[in-house]
Amino acid sequence: MPDLWPLRHLVLRTPRLTLRPDDDEGLSELAVLALRGVHPPREMPFLSPWTDQAPEDLVRGTLQFHWGRRSRLTPLDWNVDFLVRHDDRVIGEQSLSAKDFAITREVSTGSWLGTAHQRRGFGTEMRAAALLLAFDHLGATAVRSGAFTDNPASLRTSEKLGYRRDGTNTRARRGTVATEIRLVLQPEHLVRPEWRLQVDGLESCRELLGAV
Ligand SMILES: CC(C)(COP(=O)(O)OP(=O)(O)OC[C@H]1O[C@@H](n2cnc3c(N)ncnc32)[C@H](O)[C@@H]1OP(=O)(O)O)[C@@H](O)C(=O)NCCC(=O)NCCS
Repeated sequence: MPDLWPLRHLVLRTPRLTLRPDDDEGLSELAVLALRGVHPPREMPFLSPWTDQAPEDLVRGTLQFHWGRRSRLTPLDWNVDFLVRHDDRVIGEQSLSAKDFAITREVSTGSWLGTAHQRRGFGTEMRAAALLLAFDHLGATAVRSGAFTDNPASLRTSEKLGYRRDGTNTRARRGTVATEIRLVLQPEHLVRPEWRLQVDGLESCRELLGAV
């Protein structure tokens, strides 16, 4: 019998954090975390304003959003949403996605932390984990990201890790115009952390990710 969902064995470990692809128990914790707040209400760091939803919609929507991404995952088009845990509690999420990775060798990232867990270096640590996985273990040649001009936390996190600016996109955000800065990082420009990433359970996931 083949392993039907090898991603459940994948674990990334940094000095303070554990990152595992989403599971239902962890998603419930993530939804409650989102309910407690991700950013000040006046700000909107996300293109799709999912944090504006009414509490019951936000909780159910968080589960359904992730189930939808899991259900659509193929080697040609995937999103892996890592739940980020500190001291065994879910504190946020770090996503990695790719289209035609076997050919493009490019991935994109997205991430957020519950408000209570921000500004403690976790955002940098979890993004570094995603970058080390992509470059050192999957063989990516570029990682892409983006942030609105009014999101200094995300822009600074990217800058610290070595990303370069790669133009802009004009977006409609909460019904008004906003500028998103595109960011790109090649492995030679990565500002490597002082720690090593521990990766377990990746081999059985390679085919699913088009990264053989
Ligand atoms: C973006 C985010 C993941 C960063 O994580 P974090 O743990 O708060 O960031 P870190 O503590 O690792 O800090 C990274 C850098 O950003 C700076 N920074 C963090 N928050 C900041 C803020 N609100 N304003 C200005 N700089 C900020 C830090 O000082 C640090 O830079 P430094 O080392 O030069 O001092 C987190 O703030 C978050 O979840 N924000 C809300 C959701 C979001 O914006 N997601 C990204 C969408 S593109």
